[in-house]
Amino acid sequence: MSEERLQKLLARAGAGSRRACERFIEEGRVTVNGRVAHLGDKADPARDAVLFDGDSVRAAASVLIALNKPCGYLSAMADDRGRRCVAELLPMGEHPSLFHVGRLDRDTSGLLLFTTDGALAQSLMHPSKEVLKTYVAQVEGRVRERELDQLRRGITLEDGPCSPAEADVLKPDGDGAEVRIVIHEGRKRQVRRMMEAIGHPIRTLSRVAIGAYELEGIPEGAWRVLEEGEAARLFQPPPWHRG
Ligand code: URA
Repeated sequence: MSEERLQKLLARAGAGSRRACERFIEEGRVTVNGRVAHLGDKADPARDAVLFDGDSVRAAASVLIALNKPCGYLSAMADDRGRRCVAELLPMGEHPSLFHVGRLDRDTSGLLLFTTDGALAQSLMHPSKEVLKTYVAQVEGRVRERELDQLRRGITLEDGPCSPAEADVLKPDGDGAEVRIVIHEGRKRQVRRMMEAIGHPIRTLSRVAIGAYELEGIPEGAWRVLEEGEAARLFQPPPWHRG
């Protein structure tokens, strides 16, 4: 962690919006190493004692959480129609400013990330980073290589062309198949629409990895905090990536 503007640091720690935090600084409610801070001051939360109304804000340093989302939950922190939301599964008391990085459909399960770090979230979602997302789908019908070739070349959906995907049959599954799809885009219901476009509607869909970080080991509905070095794995290719 390095120095950053106090209002940004406070906002990330959940003290309020960037604007509100500027006001707190102007009101003299923030101190750095025992001195009342001024707007424009910077601090390093790992090194400096930053207090807001006398409480340490260091404890609220950014956090990154991986959830194994069950089907039936909205990728939202609250819902005005009272539907179940992922926030119900997370330690919101401890980390009230957690928000989701991207989304999974309500009927999709698997790996969903949450953070209090806006810069990390933006970086993970920025198209230029091409973060690889791996999905495993149970689909209808026997899937042939030449059908998957359409996805590998980059299929065009109604909202435009998709980048080339990686697609493999993992195993036949009764009258259907289990298929692994790797994409770096995140358009609405993209994987479902891709499989439907080649004639194999999805029965179930789960995201099993983001980059080289795999969901394995996190039970459905449970979450774990990623340790400092683990975030870097999200930007690396998974072992099955062909490059
Ligand atoms: N693609 C989909 O179709 N649904 C998801 O939830 C994620 C990717």
